[in-house]
Amino acid sequence: MRAIAVSEFGATPALMNLPVPEPGPGETLVKMVAAGLNPVDWKISDGAWKDSVDHAFPLIMGMDGAGVVEETGEGETPFRPGEQVYGRFFVPPRGLGSFAEYAIATPGAAVAPMPDGMIYSQAAAVPTATMAAFTMVENAGVDEGHTVLVVGATGGVGQSAVQLAADRGAKVIATAHADMADEMRRLGAAETVDHGEGDLNGQVLRTHSEGIDEIIDLVSDQAGVDRLAGLLRPGGTYISSIWSVNPDKMAAQQLRGLNLGDESSPELLARIADLIDAGKLRVRVHEEVSLEDTPAAIARGRAGGARGKTVIRL
Ligand SMILES: NC(=O)c1ccc[n+]([C@@H]2O[C@H](COP(=O)([O-])OP(=O)(O)OC[C@H]3O[C@@H](n4cnc5c(N)ncnc54)[C@H](OP(=O)(O)O)[C@@H]3O)[C@@H](O)[C@H]2O)c1
Repeated sequence: MRAIAVSEFGATPALMNLPVPEPGPGETLVKMVAAGLNPVDWKISDGAWKDSVDHAFPLIMGMDGAGVVEETGEGETPFRPGEQVYGRFFVPPRGLGSFAEYAIATPGAAVAPMPDGMIYSQAAAVPTATMAAFTMVENAGVDEGHTVLVVGATGGVGQSAVQLAADRGAKVIATAHADMADEMRRLGAAETVDHGEGDLNGQVLRTHSEGIDEIIDLVSDQAGVDRLAGLLRPGGTYISSIWSVNPDKMAAQQLRGLNLGDESSPELLARIADLIDAGKLRVRVHEEVSLEDTPAAIARGRAGGARGKTVIRL
């Protein structure tokens, strides 16, 4: 089968011909129709998990995907051949991932039936980013009447976080360059601030001099977090998706600081499918690429400037 893989940590992703994986006991073999790109894909192929997880090479890249169940292994499996599924298909100890014509769902992996009426390319764009956004919004305690700043709102996680926070009745302030301000409002943001204009604190304080309740931050380093934390009211919550928060430092300022752990599960994916079916959540697929064009799309993703999700057609 054709797949995008790396031959070692740090290698340039390349199109390779690799064996179709065999589903083991309790596993599901899925014929992928679409796969979704996430920053974590290239972070892992660069070696981000090398000290904590075994990897086999060539390592097929990619966590997220959507497709049709082809075959199941021996014993109990949650799916039947022909079922449309979406979720996470990354098994690094066997070198398997979602940027391939076939992928494996291991027992307990975050894989669920696809939302009704959703097309494969959209479903593939959902799992990692939306599960992260859901976990962050929930753990931040976003609620009716709160004011929440989403930093990095225009990317994959951010667009879901804006919608989920607005759905809880919060007033959402989204970071966006001018070209994305209207889109952020369509997703539910009450206001936007432009991180390209500098002094984010000044822009937020102009309309919220009393401070805000929560910050969901997907991009700032520790220095950026220290600066933005000054926007929070006493008792406010700062949550980072890239481990930039020092919880002890936050506690000393009467703030709650959290770094997001990976809380993905089939149950969470099923809850997200319900929100999509109820029309409360949508994903913006910014570009669709072929497997051949995937290495170039990964390079573009590294360079930043995401305006939604990139999806690979398989
Ligand atoms: N811990 C977890 O479980 C978990 C899960 C998912 C994601 N993450 C991490 O969370 C981060 C975001 O993921 P993603 O999928 O949303 O990435 P993405 O799709 O690449 O989006 C990042 C967005 O942030 C914007 N941005 C960059 N610098 C900014 C700044 N200084 N202020 C405001 N916005 C800025 C970018 O646009 P411009 O470049 O145009 O500004 C882009 O729209 C990644 O580092 C990812 O690895 C962690």
